[in-house]
Amino acid sequence: MNKNIIIKKPDDWHVHFREDAMLEVITKYSARINNRCIAMPNTKTPITNSLQAIDYKKLIEKNSKNENFQALIPCYLTENLDLVDFRNALKNNIFIGAKLYPTNVTTNSSFGVSNIEKIYDVFEILEKENKTLLIHGEKIDKNIDIFDREKYFIDEELTTIRNTFQNLKIVLEHVSTKYGVDYIKSNSNIAGTITPHHMLLTKKDVFLDNIINPHHYCMPVVKNENDLLALRKAACKNNTKFFLGTDSAPHEMKHKFPNMKLKPGIFSAACSIELYAKIFEEENSLDKLETFASINGPKFYNLPINESTIRLEKIDWIVPEFVKEKSIKIKNFFGNKKINWKVVDLNV
Ligand code: DOR
Ligand code: ZN
Repeated sequence: MNKNIIIKKPDDWHVHFREDAMLEVITKYSARINNRCIAMPNTKTPITNSLQAIDYKKLIEKNSKNENFQALIPCYLTENLDLVDFRNALKNNIFIGAKLYPTNVTTNSSFGVSNIEKIYDVFEILEKENKTLLIHGEKIDKNIDIFDREKYFIDEELTTIRNTFQNLKIVLEHVSTKYGVDYIKSNSNIAGTITPHHMLLTKKDVFLDNIINPHHYCMPVVKNENDLLALRKAACKNNTKFFLGTDSAPHEMKHKFPNMKLKPGIFSAACSIELYAKIFEEENSLDKLETFASINGPKFYNLPINESTIRLEKIDWIVPEFVKEKSIKIKNFFGNKKINWKVVDLNV
């Protein structure tokens, strides 16, 4: 008899659903296994006001092929937000919180924030409304090495935010370093999401000889073995401060050829919970998968824990290499590779 695990239905606290045909094709992959997803607001036209958020939520849910599925939308922070609309949207749960993208740090972040002090009034509102600030925690500067961006952001920006707004709830998204893990553990009111790819890849998987593997290129870039091990430990050892956020971020193949200006992002939605199960098993922590995938997130966001469950079975399967539908072709993370867990039942 095959080995089984049953866990409360997960939520994914960090997903990119995009827009247009891409959204129509990919939404079902996250909505199949998750009850709720935070839909990142870095669309081509970023989601900066309540009307856009209402429309975007409807659009995602309509394309989810799952009538119970909920998309949760954070506001994309800019230096000139309409603060009346922002406050009302938080009060009415139209925004779950707000996402800070430092300018030009990743895909569609050119509208982001260059001077964090300019949005202190936004942080005050979030703190007062007890809503979460989600952060892409990287500092970009010509003198900062790409591998040190997270550390510099923590030292030069996050520490100041933390000290100035001590009751503000913060999520450091896609933590990628041991330094980030340690910062989260030793500070209050801050949690972190951890992606499968940051627990499976190191920089050797991206920068091979002189060629970058475009399908492993993401922001923040994956780091060293000791970072990977620290992330695995943080996720798997029942630390309530870390939870599931895949950062599944599809780009069409045409943006993913070697030797071009690459778009960063890894699409893992077609096999995400299975990858997490594989990692937790490797860490002898399958009994902690549910805490990470289904409990810590809602607790941090003050939302109910899901009631239904999913069942995974220990069966080998090969992840298809691509998602090909309509005009869209995307490479799956782990495409053509074997995973030893598979979701076999939903709503057990
Ligand atoms: O690799 C990434 N891709 N990191 C991000 O922060 C954004 C994402 C995207 O939107 O493509
Ligand atoms: Zn992201």
